[in-house]
Amino acid sequence: MYRIVYMSRPTREMNIEDAGDLLSRAEKNNERNGITGILIHDRRRYLQYLEGDEAKVEETFARISIDRRHQAVIRLKSGTISRRQFPGWAMASKLVADDESLTKVVTRLVEDCDPDVAEELLKFAKARDEATSTEAARPDRT
Ligand SMILES: Cc1cc2nc3c(=O)[nH]c(=O)nc-3n(C[C@H](O)[C@H](O)[C@H](O)COP(=O)(O)O)c2cc1C
Repeated sequence: MYRIVYMSRPTREMNIEDAGDLLSRAEKNNERNGITGILIHDRRRYLQYLEGDEAKVEETFARISIDRRHQAVIRLKSGTISRRQFPGWAMASKLVADDESLTKVVTRLVEDCDPDVAEELLKFAKARDEATSTEAARPDRT
């Protein structure tokens, strides 16, 4: 089993219809490709975890990377893991409110994961929570 974790920034705020359309397409493609995972986002960031056959995951990530709905796509982690972590989810998604802790959301999502995978996702969530609190302390630059 192979997985990729990446983060990116939305290029514009997605409305509910846009997000729904993105997700239903993602789910349909992922089902066909044997890919499962999670997509967590707020207004400033996406954190996505994709797992499956290596070629299929890399192919999907290559497609996602050039999607103009987001930018600054950074691969945080990729490589082999022992087993599928989210067998029930072609793409679980969770919208995180501005004042909500990503760490809290991720803690719930990784409950059934292997400890090493859970830890790495939590590490990224914590880093993002820290970055967000620093951003919030500064005047908005957008
Ligand atoms: C944040 C984000 C996450 C995405 N996740 C997936 C995904 O998990 N699987 C997928 O096939 N496409 C995903 N997409 C969409 C792809 O970038 C691309 O638009 C889509 O795969 C094209 O499929 P189509 O030819 O069926 O429209 C995502 C896009 C964004 C912006």
